[in-house]
Amino acid sequence: MQHLTLTQPDDWHLHLRDGANMASIVKATSRCFARAIIMPNLKIPITTVEQALAYRKQICAIDSRFNPLMTLYLTENTSVDEIAKVKNSKHIVALKYYPANATTNSDSGVKDWHQVSPVLEAMQEYDIPLLIHGEETAPHIDIFDREKVFIEKILERILKHFPKLRVVLEHITTKEAVEYVMNNNLAATITAHHLLMNRNEIFKGGLRPHHYCLPVLKREEHRQALLQAATSGNPKFFLGTDSAPHAQSAKESMCCCAGIYTAPAALELYAEAFEQVQALDKLEGFASFYGADFYHLPRNTQTITLEKRTWQMPTHFEFGEEKVIPLRAGTDIYWVQN
Ligand code: NCD
Ligand code: ZN
Repeated sequence: MQHLTLTQPDDWHLHLRDGANMASIVKATSRCFARAIIMPNLKIPITTVEQALAYRKQICAIDSRFNPLMTLYLTENTSVDEIAKVKNSKHIVALKYYPANATTNSDSGVKDWHQVSPVLEAMQEYDIPLLIHGEETAPHIDIFDREKVFIEKILERILKHFPKLRVVLEHITTKEAVEYVMNNNLAATITAHHLLMNRNEIFKGGLRPHHYCLPVLKREEHRQALLQAATSGNPKFFLGTDSAPHAQSAKESMCCCAGIYTAPAALELYAEAFEQVQALDKLEGFASFYGADFYHLPRNTQTITLEKRTWQMPTHFEFGEEKVIPLRAGTDIYWVQN
């Protein structure tokens, strides 16, 4: 197949950052996606409706055709009143649950889910989705087991207590997560990088900081399970890039931060992954339908076309006064948006 026309897709998990760093980052996504779920883990986390609306304004000022769907960062201080405000705001669609210290800017996250129980109760009542970063962060847990342990120890209990809460397990990385999502009342996003790479890519010929993200890349058998889920046509699995830019200096450092910047070729990378298993016909559901359906939003009506043609990803992009290095920097990408 040389051309692939799809209903315009949406990105259901995206990091845009803020301030001077945002300008090039927003456009990398809005060139292709109509809407995106904007993650709230800024240096000062977005914890109130007021903050989220101010952040949204900054994003819209960069590209007014793009529709950012905002989220609040759930903390142990989030009030039930704030949840009522979310219910009444058409621009704020979900709350994000970060286990404390699980990832970039997550030190205000949840230490003990019982502390946020009244808030989860209110979210269940108002039918507001909870988006979960599913990793157990206790230091004795092996980093490759964090997702599996979180599902067993925390997620299972949350779903039991709140059987009607609408939950997305974000950026799933393991076959255990795939099975859990298939058998329980929740949905999941899957990134392009977890569909294309296994953990060998972190260590290929040396240590590769630009392949370090959280949850960390896993074994090949897990990648295979994710590919199968994404291309199965099961509407519980949909597109969320988790595109997470960091300055080159923060990645190439003594303590490299987590995050892979895929936005400049996000849909093209998903097409590559789907093509590997001869499932390009399943891309539209995954990229353009199932996420919108989950969030009870209308499906997009415009279309976009991808063409099978090789091009080179630039070696870097502007990131405020610094640079950001995208996935596949200086190497081949096999699909291009017309
Ligand atoms: C994300 C970031 O940098 O904000 N990093 C990542 O590796 N995915 C945070 C996150 O989603 O975990
Ligand atoms: Zn993320």
